[in-house]
Amino acid sequence: MIPVCTPLLGKNEKKYVDECIATNWISSSGKYIKLFEEGFSHYCGRKYGVTTTNGTTALHLALAALGIGPGDEVIMPTFTIAATAFAVMYCGAKPVFIDSEPATWNIDPDQIRAKITQKTKVILPVHIYGHPCAMSVIMSLASRYNLCVVEDAAQSHGAQYQDKKVGGIGDIGCFSFYGNKIITCGEGGMVVTNNRRIAQRCRDLRNMAFIESKRFWHKEIGFNHRMTNLQAALGLAQFEQIDQLIERRRRNAVLYSALLSGVEGLRLPIERSDVKNVYWMYGILVEDDFGLSRDRLMRKLKEKGVETRTFFIPLHNQPFLKKQGMASKERFPVAEDIARRGLYLPSGSGLTKKEIEYICDCIKEIKDASSHDI
Ligand SMILES: Cc1ncc(COP(=O)(O)O)c(C=O)c1O
Repeated sequence: MIPVCTPLLGKNEKKYVDECIATNWISSSGKYIKLFEEGFSHYCGRKYGVTTTNGTTALHLALAALGIGPGDEVIMPTFTIAATAFAVMYCGAKPVFIDSEPATWNIDPDQIRAKITQKTKVILPVHIYGHPCAMSVIMSLASRYNLCVVEDAAQSHGAQYQDKKVGGIGDIGCFSFYGNKIITCGEGGMVVTNNRRIAQRCRDLRNMAFIESKRFWHKEIGFNHRMTNLQAALGLAQFEQIDQLIERRRRNAVLYSALLSGVEGLRLPIERSDVKNVYWMYGILVEDDFGLSRDRLMRKLKEKGVETRTFFIPLHNQPFLKKQGMASKERFPVAEDIARRGLYLPSGSGLTKKEIEYICDCIKEIKDASSHDI
């Protein structure tokens, strides 16, 4: 089976992890935490990086550090992973959903203004599958209405909007380093920011809100969102290869697009002229004129040894929101449509040219065979 994604680990990953074990620095202190935080945050164009246990806790920490709480609203796309909304809800705030842009599948910036209320505190754009959101519109709305911007860049390490890296545009950027991400720690996350006060607040909350003057005396509820030195060791070794890992992802996408561009009924991912898409996942839409449904195509690809994944199910009407009385009856036609039609193909950095050619041949064969059926 060609998997959707596997990590690509090099020599330094083992060397640095071995060093943690040899020196006994296996917990949440140690040199790799600092090196990884400094290296990755500076790469994003930010002064401060705060590592966390995963991308979900990075988002939680960012929102908590901004003081987001009950009664507050956070504007975010409905087309994202549930973790984005979970982080908002951990703070007791309400996610307010926006539909997707048809071309990029990102939050539609033109629909944000109408959802801003007195309660809105944050806009939380998610750079979906590696393509940056339309940040200039989002940043000018935020400045006009005095809102913070927290970028969910979990899927888009190194992607660029105009001359800036994602995660380095809003007030805070949040990353995941889960095993399928462009660089990985196994599990891990990071908050990046230029704001010293926010960074310090994240550090305090991450570490159970200890206070310096009196050990074991806590003025507020803190969290344990600390990354280990072992994870950071892996993360640093991966970070050293980030440019090559991104280039591999982009090369995969160029090849997929070249081989699939003539196939009727498939919509392929785009790269707007003012962005660099890092193609974390190569997502495609299966249109009606393809000849068979998205789900049938996925089943047939599986029979041929090709693993795929469906797009996200939009969040606005999910059971976890209904349970909290926060579900929305509103329709989000673009997100609902792409959720029905979308799938992503194997996209890992280690994918070979031969594998991509095989996958594209399979798609064409499956389409041809289905047209003979009709
Ligand atoms: C957009 C987005 N946000 C947040 C997360 C959560 O990250 P993690 O799985 O590291 O908690 C993910 C994970 O895939 C994600 O894709």
